[in-house]
Amino acid sequence: MKKRKLNKKVIIILSIILVVLLIEVINPIKLYNKHQLRELGYNETSINTILKNDLKKDVLASEYQKSLDTIFASSDFKKENYDIYKKLNYYNLKDYTKDINALIKKGYKEEDIENILRSATDSSIKEFLEKDYIEDISSYLGYDYAILANYDRYVAYQEENNLDKEATVTYVNIGLDRDYYTEPNKVKGFSFDMLVNKYNELDSNFVPDDLVSVPEDYAVDDKQKANGTMLEAFKKMSDDCKAAVGSKILVRSAYRDYNTQQSTYDLYLKTYGKNYAENYVAHPGFSEHQTGLAVDIKAESSETFEGTKESKWLKENAYKYGFIFRYAKDTVNITGIKYESWHYRYLGVELATKVHESGLTYDEYYIRNLSK
Ligand code: DAL
Ligand code: ZN
Repeated sequence: MKKRKLNKKVIIILSIILVVLLIEVINPIKLYNKHQLRELGYNETSINTILKNDLKKDVLASEYQKSLDTIFASSDFKKENYDIYKKLNYYNLKDYTKDINALIKKGYKEEDIENILRSATDSSIKEFLEKDYIEDISSYLGYDYAILANYDRYVAYQEENNLDKEATVTYVNIGLDRDYYTEPNKVKGFSFDMLVNKYNELDSNFVPDDLVSVPEDYAVDDKQKANGTMLEAFKKMSDDCKAAVGSKILVRSAYRDYNTQQSTYDLYLKTYGKNYAENYVAHPGFSEHQTGLAVDIKAESSETFEGTKESKWLKENAYKYGFIFRYAKDTVNITGIKYESWHYRYLGVELATKVHESGLTYDEYYIRNLSK
């Protein structure tokens, strides 16, 4: 009788220990929670932070967010900032969580923080965090092509020129607040969308891909070269121009290497003077002609291109063949090149169509859409 009682007691105690063990050590609920968060995509460190801060329900209610996964895994995670964290996108910054905390502390709200992070680099955000709170920061950084490092230049350019903010951000990103040729970006490698202008420089030894000779029946002489893809498009455009208006278009000058561009500039300088040369001929390294994708066009019917039936047809139709008209009458303040009715640039049909439809210069289009 006594022994049975004892056994019962032992069984009860053992059962309690087992239950406690189950709950505390194995903890099936916790295991299940972890499993769910893991299934969603969160990493182990993040999962521990989520559970420790009682955020599981909230986290499980949404899709996986890389931003949150990064923040939860960071030792800089602060629970009081969670409501802001969960509204932000991820950006590849070394101190992502720490920078967000610092921005929140300065008084920035979600929209500003998102814009600042999107436009930042590791160094520009550190510099920015030295500044006091800026009330209208998003009026500049709200454009997705804005660059945080350029913020002071935006403000200075805006004060000087009083343009709208969109133009200010675009123009400063192009480099228009600086003198031509002074602090150029280096253009790396050949591509059909490459931007070469007075702020974007090619190496002196840069040679375009697939450089071919232009057949004499499509050129003014037998010395012309161009990129092969561009040439095929040009030939088709020339044939269709002839079919439409009765005469074709010819390559007057397409690819010019660095030295040829130098001698072109020198010739203009000698013949017409500095002002004219600067307005019409790019310095060597800064000419689209060195890409093999630009072409100065001659109308078959006339020595002067402007006003010909070929030039009119071309202006309407060039984009359908992948070419854009590059230097318009009213864009000298953006391109730094005066009106050149004869100069076209090959981009490929898809991009040329987009640029044509945007009504922007290629410099603006590139800065807004292709530069990041
Ligand atoms: N004439 C154009 C701008 C060039 O020299 O590239
Ligand atoms: Zn040209």
